[in-house]
Amino acid sequence: MIGSFPLTRMRRNRVDQATRRLVAENKLSIDDLIWPIFIIEGHNIKTEVSTMPGIKRVTIDQLAFHIEPAAQLNIPALALFPVTSKEKRDSKGSESFNPNNLICQAARELKKHFPEIILIGDVALDPYTSHGHDGIIKNGYVVNDETIDVLARQSINQANAGIDIIAPSDMMDGRVSAIRQELDKENFINTRIMSYAAKYASVYYGPFRDAVESGSLLKGNKKTYQMDPANSREALSEVELDIQEGADSIIIKPGLPYLDIVRRVRDHFNIPIVSYQVSGEYAMLMNAIQNGYLDREQSILETLLCFKRAGANAIMTYFAIEAAKLIKNQ
Ligand code: PBG
Repeated sequence: MIGSFPLTRMRRNRVDQATRRLVAENKLSIDDLIWPIFIIEGHNIKTEVSTMPGIKRVTIDQLAFHIEPAAQLNIPALALFPVTSKEKRDSKGSESFNPNNLICQAARELKKHFPEIILIGDVALDPYTSHGHDGIIKNGYVVNDETIDVLARQSINQANAGIDIIAPSDMMDGRVSAIRQELDKENFINTRIMSYAAKYASVYYGPFRDAVESGSLLKGNKKTYQMDPANSREALSEVELDIQEGADSIIIKPGLPYLDIVRRVRDHFNIPIVSYQVSGEYAMLMNAIQNGYLDREQSILETLLCFKRAGANAIMTYFAIEAAKLIKNQ
């Protein structure tokens, strides 16, 4: 029900800053932010990702220094992504269950320095395979059930190293229940699963693939496992299945172009939703900011607020540190 002009004037509630604060329906908070981190092999190295201006890949010895601002700002969680060298990659992604791989080393190092920060481990094979696909390939097809076994093993490896939340990003069928069962068997009953339930086969992952150096290895595309950007009802089925299989929260990805999916899932389910503002979105925004086409602070804050309005509980964003500083100073 709504009154009519001139008794009702919608602009009254916008008349000053204090009133606008009182009637605001959504608010961006530091509690909402997850910061993705790229880790590289070697010692005392920081390298820029050329397609993601301002984003660095760091070695384990640099990690604590690199993460310090996140701890200072009280950012609740980090998502870890390894850059595995070509020599360590094979067709089955065996490096994913090496207890001394980059993710595991990073987890141990970070838990030592920042025990209160939650660590999210991406589970998929693409950082470890010689072909850049998320699973094992047989006769040119990424096979589902064999891949799941490796993902479960990878999850246990990460949990052993101190990863708090397992985030399968591979889009194989049935992997959430396989991982849950394996975690429970090993007594990791409180290790959470944040599944990429609706992950689309998107062009917006391009800069990320540059960052983890899998883009040049990848032959073909990921359309036989990641979702078709044309579909949204299908996302509801994906989320429903993951809830039934034991997911504690779900991720929808990419972010901004897929906020309609966030809204649809929010209206259907009660599970916490994480939206991932992916590398290509970061690159687009940064380009506009660096060219002076968009105001830096306002474009970051407005964009992230839109995720909240769509119904996301948390946002994975490469802008996490900058956004947290802006929120703190507001
Ligand atoms: C790996 C993975 C990808 C991203 C997160 N995990 C890339 C892909 O599926 O090809 C993309 C993140 C980003 O673009 O920021 N499975």
